[in-house]
Amino acid sequence: MKKWSLITLSLILSVVMLSACGQKAAKNTDSDKANQPKNSTTSQASGSDLTIESGKLIIGLSADFPPYEFQVKSSNGTNEIVGFDVEIAKEIAKDLGVELEIKDMPFSSVLNELKGERIDLILSGLSPTKERKKEIDFSNIYYKAEQTVVTLAENKDNFKTMDQLKGKKIGVQMGSIQEGIAKEIEGATLTSLAKNSDIVMQLKSGRVDVAIMEGPVAKSFVNNVEGLVITDAKPEAEEEGYVVGIKKGHTEMVNQVNKTLDRLKAENKIEQFVLEATELAEKK
Ligand code: ARG
Repeated sequence: MKKWSLITLSLILSVVMLSACGQKAAKNTDSDKANQPKNSTTSQASGSDLTIESGKLIIGLSADFPPYEFQVKSSNGTNEIVGFDVEIAKEIAKDLGVELEIKDMPFSSVLNELKGERIDLILSGLSPTKERKKEIDFSNIYYKAEQTVVTLAENKDNFKTMDQLKGKKIGVQMGSIQEGIAKEIEGATLTSLAKNSDIVMQLKSGRVDVAIMEGPVAKSFVNNVEGLVITDAKPEAEEEGYVVGIKKGHTEMVNQVNKTLDRLKAENKIEQFVLEATELAEKK
């Protein structure tokens, strides 16, 4: 028996939307500071770019992306955001000596929230594209995965190559590199949605023919939602791997985050976090 039903998915979706509406900017940004270009190399009088004024490291993510970040019901019935990005974020906060706060939002908002200093970092399965690099800085790559095409089991053989996606209806997450990949496909009709769970619902109801997703995310949905499969078609992305998004010019933060990532890599922790998060996503 598959554990997720469409009903569960819609429930998750409404909870996510409700919580998004109820959320206020957790960090009060001093507007002077927001308008002031930061010097990338020298520390300012108010402290270096590592200074977390709120005392909390606020990370922005879109919790629709198992096993990177997703929601589970905790024992007291509330929704908790978990995943391997969250575990990495905890380690970054620990090394900085501050508490961690998570802000869930649509993926298409993460860059703007960072630029507006309403969050300190993006940990959201972020791919380091050239376009994004113009706006924000990146950590080193902490994990790599491939792109995949997901469809209904009965249609699997219709999508053995990327050529077969031409002229089809394709579901992708808004603002993602998958949206960029789909835009390049001749004659394709795109449905760009805020959450990956929405895309899965469109697939299930036949409103899109395929969805393009990162491999680990596709696997997680396929394992939990009956009737979905990963096809043999292999989308190509120019960017490899995932990075932490950091405010432009915050060089000290880049170095600090890389230090934590290096430590986690040396301790084989990232692989461990991925395994644990994958298991957790299966249990949902
Ligand atoms: N890796 C893709 C990108 O950077 C998709 C990331 C989506 N992340 C998420 N948490 N939904 O565009």
